[in-house]
Amino acid sequence: MIKLYYDNKKALDEIENLIQQKRGNKIFINKENNTGIFIHGDNFDVMISLLDEFENKIDLVYIDPPFNTNSDFYYSEYNTSTVSASKNDIVAYSDKMSFEDYLEFIRERIVVIRKLLSDKGTLYFHIDCKVGHYIKIILDEIFGIDNFVNDITRVKSNPKNFKRKAYGNEKDVLYVYSKVPQKNIFNNVLVPLTIEEIKKSFPKSDKNGRHYTTVPCHAPGETKNGDTGKEWKGMLPPKGRHWRCSPNELEELDNNNLIEWSKNGIPRIKKFSDEHKGKKIQDIWKNYKDPQYPIYPTEKNYEMLSMIIQQSSNEKSIIMDCFCGSSSFLSAGIDNNRYVIGIDKSKVAIDVLTGKRDNLKDICIIDL
Ligand SMILES: C[S@@+](CC[C@H](N)C(=O)[O-])C[C@H]1O[C@@H](n2cnc3c(N)ncnc32)[C@H](O)[C@@H]1O
Repeated sequence: MIKLYYDNKKALDEIENLIQQKRGNKIFINKENNTGIFIHGDNFDVMISLLDEFENKIDLVYIDPPFNTNSDFYYSEYNTSTVSASKNDIVAYSDKMSFEDYLEFIRERIVVIRKLLSDKGTLYFHIDCKVGHYIKIILDEIFGIDNFVNDITRVKSNPKNFKRKAYGNEKDVLYVYSKVPQKNIFNNVLVPLTIEEIKKSFPKSDKNGRHYTTVPCHAPGETKNGDTGKEWKGMLPPKGRHWRCSPNELEELDNNNLIEWSKNGIPRIKKFSDEHKGKKIQDIWKNYKDPQYPIYPTEKNYEMLSMIIQQSSNEKSIIMDCFCGSSSFLSAGIDNNRYVIGIDKSKVAIDVLTGKRDNLKDICIIDL
């Protein structure tokens, strides 16, 4: 196995011992009476205290921890700027650890997250390109490389014109890991085609302005005895092919004006863009840029979080963000009917949750 070496790296046993020592501090949660919980505190201790109740139970964990930027992140009640802080802003959180301490801080938390995940669970680890490669090696070490699912490139912002002697940086990354290979929930969420894609794939339009394209009435492979090898309007399917549907169904399509006939009398089936189910999501995400006027510094895109939740958990699944900041992930979770667990150690995170997230008013808040 390939491992990363750095000063202060603990043996895995040491982390396990630490977890066992801290396991005495339990948090009792009555799940019946609320839609989720937010716990204010350090996520290492909090997650350990959740183990009794949630070990192997959480289907999805999304985290967007500090990126080891050596910066403070400011919050203003009125307008949290993505670019500059003003003198009345308060520090929401500070991101100033040595690189080695940072890696170990992340590693300890990944060990506990893995314990909390269910066998069909998935971790999405949101990070930038500067430290991401080191995190990937730690994830391989703790989860096992067999559980690597995806390395997503996410376009996070519009192009920037920094003075640095470097290309502009408009992307960050998400590493996706399953707890058990191929057992992870993956609902094959589809996304609608863009207008450009519709124009390209459905170039024709009918008298009502509906975009469509046509496909042959036949498909590869011969049918021996079935209907799809029989005559339709005096024609047999071409050699080596069969009709896409039975002659009766083709007749019905034709009666409903869903077959287009060429000048040479070749029939083709019409396919309309508004009946297209959507396309599979690939590993470059261009449509999930972060809000320009976030309610909390580094607030992430709501639609992206909602899609991740639909993709990798089911209704009523327990899902967690243990660096939850503005509670964006919790908010998307509640809208998708999941039981949400949020943890953050920033006081500002509670203020934003209680003051700015109406759909989270029923979650139980625990301030340790
Ligand atoms: C990048 S922000 C998360 C932003 C969030 N994804 C959103 O959309 O608003 C990282 C968060 O991690 C929190 N954090 C950092 N260290 C923590 C720790 N040890 N325990 C709990 N929260 C922590 C910070 O307070 C901050 O809110």
